Amino acid sequence: MASASRTPAPPSARPASSRVQSMLDLVGNTPLIEITRLRAGIPSRVRVFAKLEGFNPGGSVKDRPAVWMVRKGLESGALREGKTILDSTSGNTGIALALAGVVFGYPVHLVMPENVSVERKKIVCAYGAAVTFSSPLEGSDGAIRLCRKILEENPERYFKPDQYFNPVNPLAHYESTGPEIWTDTEGTITHFVAGLGTGGTVMGTGRYLKERNPKVHIIGVEPDDAWHGLEGLKHMASSIVPGIYHEEELDRKINVATDAAYETVYRLGSEEGLVVGQSSGAALVAALQVAREIDEGVIVVIFPDFGDRYLSTSLWIGWHDWQERRSRPSTVPQR
Ligand SMILES: Cc1ncc(COP(=O)(O)O)c(C=O)c1O
Repeated sequence: MASASRTPAPPSARPASSRVQSMLDLVGNTPLIEITRLRAGIPSRVRVFAKLEGFNPGGSVKDRPAVWMVRKGLESGALREGKTILDSTSGNTGIALALAGVVFGYPVHLVMPENVSVERKKIVCAYGAAVTFSSPLEGSDGAIRLCRKILEENPERYFKPDQYFNPVNPLAHYESTGPEIWTDTEGTITHFVAGLGTGGTVMGTGRYLKERNPKVHIIGVEPDDAWHGLEGLKHMASSIVPGIYHEEELDRKINVATDAAYETVYRLGSEEGLVVGQSSGAALVAALQVAREIDEGVIVVIFPDFGDRYLSTSLWIGWHDWQERRSRPSTVPQR
């Protein structure tokens, strides 16, 4: 692989944009960028690359499983005329399903915790999806339970992709994310790092990479505490464990504190020019930890989305604001 260059290619050297049939043709083939500045303590022969899933048309890694699950539903006949797509989602899957529903021509009904970011709620509505809110105190598990109840009351009406239990979720990553990473690293990847939500990304991508090279280390990242601020990630020990998640397939799991993840998000924006969501910050904390432990290697970390859909959340208001006040001696808050 050529070493990283900081000079952007002139517009004339960039490939001409391609014509597409629908937004769904733009899912996948996301860029891989090298992290070149947040490298303190990392040996020179260790390289860290981030896969920018925010470039998917629905703005996140979740476009992949959403499109795969809807397509499979249509192929199997489980999704057909008269059905509504129903699922529980902490946000990104809902946006992705809402987009897929519009393009394939099916109504979408989502169940999400009331406290997901206002940006996410508004994007889902912009795609025309119906939303039922579950208790903010019960997190994504509350949304899962309420969604099951809605389905039980009217099973004939809905097609439920069921991202937590549907093997097509990891399959999407096995068939797209994994091959893209293998190609873009020219088969040199040694470590793959991804956050754990449903586990679809780490399972599917991990399986593909292990098949290509069984020595690739597969590393899952989760919050270090049940009460965390890492939207999109699950603390498995205190959650309903997704049926598609098989921890024994991981080589390692790294727990990350919310504070460390937020700090890394801020540094990514101001030092690398990458404004991402909190789960990307958490994944990079883990990737940098691994990078400091080895002498040589190519680490690929998934950045599931960009930061603009969290502007109203504690990522950019609460915690950051507190940090700012803390840095001004006259207004240091008393704790
Ligand atoms: C922001 C964000 N990060 C990470 C994840 C985890 O991805 P997965 O469900 O594939 O484990 C999700 C999933 O919803 C997410 O929305």
